[in-house]
Amino acid sequence: MSARIGFIGTGRFARFLTAVLDRDGAAAPVTLSPRNAATAAELAAAHGAVVAESNAAVIDASDIVLLTTRAEHGVKPAEGLNWRADQTAVSLVGGLALGDLAAAVAPAKAVKAMTSYAAAHVPCPFLIYPEDAAARALGERFGAVHALDDERAFEAAAAMPVFFALLLGLLAEGEGWCVDQGVAPELARAQTVAGLRGLAALVEEAGEGGLAPLVETMATPGGLTEGGIADLQRHAAMAPWRAAMDRILARALGER
Ligand SMILES: NC(=O)c1ccc[n+]([C@@H]2O[C@H](COP(=O)([O-])OP(=O)(O)OC[C@H]3O[C@@H](n4cnc5c(N)ncnc54)[C@H](OP(=O)(O)O)[C@@H]3O)[C@@H](O)[C@H]2O)c1
Repeated sequence: MSARIGFIGTGRFARFLTAVLDRDGAAAPVTLSPRNAATAAELAAAHGAVVAESNAAVIDASDIVLLTTRAEHGVKPAEGLNWRADQTAVSLVGGLALGDLAAAVAPAKAVKAMTSYAAAHVPCPFLIYPEDAAARALGERFGAVHALDDERAFEAAAAMPVFFALLLGLLAEGEGWCVDQGVAPELARAQTVAGLRGLAALVEEAGEGGLAPLVETMATPGGLTEGGIADLQRHAAMAPWRAAMDRILARALGER
């Protein structure tokens, strides 16, 4: 029988995760914490989820409990509950330290995990730290599971969906620039979406290896792309992106 899954934190991310778990029709319905009654009712109707009376009732009814509250709540939502040694608490809260989680959920096992909201649409890696059989079995329902043995590396890999949120802003910049030159907004959007899809296809087709060499293959010697790359390099345009990611990682690790 598959593990019974509960959620503490019935918000936007729980909605994505519940939708993915519901694809596996044979599994038991998930149990949700009652706070945020509107989303809980929506997920009960859409995916047959069970809305518990309290966080304590979620713990009682589950083998694996996913923590999907916001970082500002810390470990409080998981504290003071009747955790059992045969349970695994899996935190998907960005930047929650494993040690703090472990103390809050003892004697249950504590694991950090991350996947992307995009898991509802495309297969996404499911990251776990540290390795754990129950968390791995859960993650396999989402996509390829990657167990990391270092918290810094885990948080860096987990930060990539944030990078993509920033990238969306960059794409919007290109779209907006196009409109400013007199292109109709619908066409500017179509060009942006087509470019994004084309890029994904190119990367898929290239298979293994890093992406940096692909940038060069897109630049004809002496052409417009090559000139654009040189311009960006002259202005050290990647430096603020690296600095932003460094700050995001430091925050996730509680270093600032
Ligand atoms: N959204 C995403 O795509 C995404 C992707 C990756 C990771 N995450 C991570 O997932 C976590 C949740 O994000 P979200 O976007 O789903 O936030 P959200 O929509 O605000 O959902 C969090 C829910 O937890 C509830 N909550 C707060 N304290 C609680 C408690 N003691 N017991 C039970 N429920 C409690 C909140 O209620 P109130 O609103 O009443 O406080 C809210 O309904 C964050 O840590 C985020 O870093 C999210």
